Amino acid sequence: MGERGLRVIREFQSYYDDLNGVRRAIVQRIPFAPGERWLDIGTGDGWFALEIERMMAPSVVIGIDLARCEVELARQHARDSNSRFSAFVQMDAYRLGFPSGAFDGIGTFLALQDICLDLPSLHRLFEEANRVLKLGGWFALATTTPEDAETPSQKLALEIYQYIRAGFFTKAQIQAALEQMGFQVEHIEFYPTGVNLDPEEAQAFIRFECDWLERAYGWQNKPDWRAVWAHFEPRIRALGGLEVDAKVTFFLARKVRTHRPTGGV
Ligand SMILES: C[S@@+](CC[C@H](N)C(=O)[O-])C[C@H]1O[C@@H](n2cnc3c(N)ncnc32)[C@H](O)[C@@H]1O
Repeated sequence: MGERGLRVIREFQSYYDDLNGVRRAIVQRIPFAPGERWLDIGTGDGWFALEIERMMAPSVVIGIDLARCEVELARQHARDSNSRFSAFVQMDAYRLGFPSGAFDGIGTFLALQDICLDLPSLHRLFEEANRVLKLGGWFALATTTPEDAETPSQKLALEIYQYIRAGFFTKAQIQAALEQMGFQVEHIEFYPTGVNLDPEEAQAFIRFECDWLERAYGWQNKPDWRAVWAHFEPRIRALGGLEVDAKVTFFLARKVRTHRPTGGV
């Protein structure tokens, strides 16, 4: 799909690019030191990586994403914001092409639910993060935890994400997986984004999420957006909208030991 097509279909998503400054607020809570090397996993459009670059004076921030179209968008955003220290690479989060201990810090923002669909994959991801992180390095993880959805509209948004394709984990599951894989959780915080899409924007959101799977990964058997919309429209209209990505949970963890995979060296 050409640039124009991407822009048109993403217009409703202007909410997502900024998310009421939540990326910036979270990045401000990370104890960076100048000259560090950071990795952003599931970087998408690159906004979190670029926010990290803006906040610290890094030697480099590398954003990786499985989807080529996202990597291209991230590179475009990096050019637009005159980024000098960020680079974006197409890569699978489970097989990071970096040596062990290559990074001082790792960030991941609203990507966990796309990367990991079940607990074993969450463990695999954290194991790989532990490998590429230096001992004492930071893991800054921002995601949505379903038990903290407050309103029916926030709960419905999570149900729709899961219906299309997403794995969500509770705070307790994430914390236990982090600890099992060699991290210590230093603190957990919540950030409201205040996002509430009106029903028409909610329809565009559903269409985007369904069609994106084919554009990004070539999935032919993606859910049909019309069927998904028909399924959820009455409830969205009854609630007057959809609170998508309304609340973000931020975990700041530190690598306290090198995890040795079972049976590994
Ligand atoms: C919601 S987007 C990320 C948003 C982004 N971090 C931000 O700040 O806007 C989730 C991303 O995770 C990526 N993803 C899913 N599975 C992945 C994998 N196995 N490896 C790397 N990236 C993956 C998707 O391609 C998608 O771009």
